[in-house]
Amino acid sequence: MSKRRIILFDTTLRDGEQSPGASLTVNEKLVIAHQLARLGVDVIEAGFPIASEGDFEAVKQVAQNIKGPSVCGLARANQADIDRCWEAVKYAEKPRIHTFIATSKVHREDKLKKSPEEIIEITRNAVKRAKGYCDDVEFSPEDAARTSLDYMCDVVRAAIEAGATTINIPDTVGYAEPKEFGDRIRYLFKHVPEAKNVIISVHCHNDLGNAVANSLAAVEAGATQVEGCINGIGERAGNASLEEIIMNLITRRDYFNVDVAVNTREIYKTSRLLANLTGLEIQRNKPIVGANVFAHEAGIHQHGVLQNRETYEIMKAEDVGWTGENLVIGKHSGKHAVTALLSEEGFQLSDHQIRQITEKVKDLADKQKMVERDDVIAIARDVTNQLSE
Ligand code: KIV
Ligand code: ZN
Repeated sequence: MSKRRIILFDTTLRDGEQSPGASLTVNEKLVIAHQLARLGVDVIEAGFPIASEGDFEAVKQVAQNIKGPSVCGLARANQADIDRCWEAVKYAEKPRIHTFIATSKVHREDKLKKSPEEIIEITRNAVKRAKGYCDDVEFSPEDAARTSLDYMCDVVRAAIEAGATTINIPDTVGYAEPKEFGDRIRYLFKHVPEAKNVIISVHCHNDLGNAVANSLAAVEAGATQVEGCINGIGERAGNASLEEIIMNLITRRDYFNVDVAVNTREIYKTSRLLANLTGLEIQRNKPIVGANVFAHEAGIHQHGVLQNRETYEIMKAEDVGWTGENLVIGKHSGKHAVTALLSEEGFQLSDHQIRQITEKVKDLADKQKMVERDDVIAIARDVTNQLSE
């Protein structure tokens, strides 16, 4: 019997970009989107088209240029947002409109000032409007994790009736605990039988550090789409880290018994590229992509690993794309060393860019003998940004 396939929805370019200090240019978003396609995510949420001209342009360019993943844009549940979103995503091979409205009591009463019935009506109208543009429509009841179970089910039922093909259950403020969140998904399947005919998705924030655990609990409860960001970036404490979810599902496939279709060897490059372009560095002990993850310092660990790596390693470094190389760049280094280092860091460069970067690296090496990895990255960022301006 074939295994349940989990759809990986990457929102690095939308929710991730909402991280303080993480804003990206249109060109940078496009570079990251190409890398996400190489990684093999199923859906790229490229932005919130009505939010700004820049966001609109980024979503449009990702839609025009990315082949493979679906390209999604976010829209509040109103006509203007949905129309604008469609204008940007309509160029995609597989466009998706993702519309949302908050459903928890505190959001309804204090932010939206709408009754529960009004929210349901707005949901219906928004999904129908989006459906007039494309088949693939995702709906999210924002702050679902703090919404009463029965009301959440009522809203979801209305969204499905109106034509939503994916229902996403967000833990917007990272409030849920794993068992509780898994039980919420079970409750949904039990009380909304139509949920079996659509994709049930989850979207967890990390305020209490539970985003990945909550997402995995939802997968166990039957969710088939998981949303997250590379390096776990995002508003406040961030979103669920997509690379951690991927490696949980793969490393413990015996436990989850599901499939994902990603090229895990692209994980490290994707992570480095994002860190380089946003300037949001990764803590050394960050699971999967932190600098210490495959390093063994304690003597007893080193001894074990030398006999058999499995004594202390549950994943292979090469499976997530670590090369383990530590290239030293000096004035005798040529463009091959520079290319290798930058490719490890996730950059995809033209010959012209590589020549320019190599020249600048050699100039710097003349002055300071040793050029650090970070110097080469800074030069590459400078050259790639100059060309995109
Ligand atoms: O966290 C959240 O609720 C969101 C929604 C727009 C899905 O990002
Ligand atoms: Zn979010």
